[in-house]
Amino acid sequence: MDLGLTGRVALVAAASSGLGLGVARALAREGAHVSIAARDPGRLARAHAEVDAAGPGKVLSTPVDLRDDDAVTAWVERTAAELGALHVVVTNSGGVPHGPADAFTPGQYREALEGSMLPHVTTALAALPHLRAAGWGRILMITSEAVRQPLPGTALSASARLGLLGFAKGLVHALGASGVTVNVLAPGCHRTPAFETFLEAHPAPDKETALKEITAEIPLGTVGDPEDFGAIAAFLAGEQASFVTGTVLVADGGNTRGLG
Ligand SMILES: NC(=O)c1ccc[n+]([C@@H]2O[C@H](COP(=O)([O-])OP(=O)(O)OC[C@H]3O[C@@H](n4cnc5c(N)ncnc54)[C@H](OP(=O)(O)O)[C@@H]3O)[C@@H](O)[C@H]2O)c1
Repeated sequence: MDLGLTGRVALVAAASSGLGLGVARALAREGAHVSIAARDPGRLARAHAEVDAAGPGKVLSTPVDLRDDDAVTAWVERTAAELGALHVVVTNSGGVPHGPADAFTPGQYREALEGSMLPHVTTALAALPHLRAAGWGRILMITSEAVRQPLPGTALSASARLGLLGFAKGLVHALGASGVTVNVLAPGCHRTPAFETFLEAHPAPDKETALKEITAEIPLGTVGDPEDFGAIAAFLAGEQASFVTGTVLVADGGNTRGLG
C-alpha cells in the first residue's frame, strides 16, 4: 500500500535508538525526508546512517536534549528550513525509573514530567505553525501502555504520560479542521536497548528467565519488534489515516487487561 509519504518531511524525536529509530526507519522506507534528534552524538551518527540506508529521502540529524525548549525549537526550525516544510511530527522521550507511587520524591515526579511529558508538548507546539502552514499534518506521540493500564510499578510513567493524553486531546480540538491529526501510540514491551536494561535489572536470575517471566504474562506470548512498531506509526502518518485523530493505539500483544 502506498501511504502517500513520498517527499513528506518527518521529524522524529529521541530517535537514535529503539522505538524512535524504528519509526524513523519506517518513515524513510516510505520515501519521507526524516530529521532525527537525540543527545549522544555517536549513537545519533550511527542512527543517521541507518535511516539514510532505509530510504531515498534526505536525512538530518541534530544533537538535542529534549528537556531544553530552545534547543527543541531550534531543531524544528532547522528541519523546516533545510527540508522545506514539516508534515509528520513524532514526539518521543527517554523513559523513567520503575517503582510504586510512594517510592519517589516530588523532585523525581518533577523530573519525570520534564523528561517524559514536556518534550512531547515542546516538540508539538514548536511544529504547529509549520503543520498549519502545510495544511496537512500528523502528530504521533510515543507514550506507553501505562496510559491504558497503570500497573503498580509504573507510577512515574503513568503520571507523566496520562497528563500528555490530556494535552493530545486538547490539541485535536485546537487544530480542528486544519488537516492535522493527533494520535497517541501506546507501546507495551518491545525489544529495544531500554528493554534490555529493564531485563538486566529484573529480579530473575538471568535475562532469559526474566524474558520468559515477562512474556508468560503477555497473551501473544512474545514482546514487540521496533520494526513492526515503526510500520504501525507509518500507517497512522499516512494518507489513509486522515480520519483518525484523538485515538490511542495500543501495541502490547494483548497485555492490557481492561477494555480502555
Ligand atoms: N521499549 C519498551 O518496551 C517500551 C514500553 C513502553 C514505553 N516505552 C517508552 O518509549 C520511549 C522510547 O523507549 P525505547 O525503548 O525506544 O528507549 P531507548 O531504546 O532507550 O531509546 C531512547 C531514545 O531516547 C533518546 N533520549 C533519551 N533522553 C533524551 C533527551 N533528554 N533528549 C533527547 N533524546 C533523549 C535516547 O538517546 P540519548 O540517550 O542519546 O539522548 C534514545 O535515542 C520511552 O519513553 C519508553 O519509556 C518503551
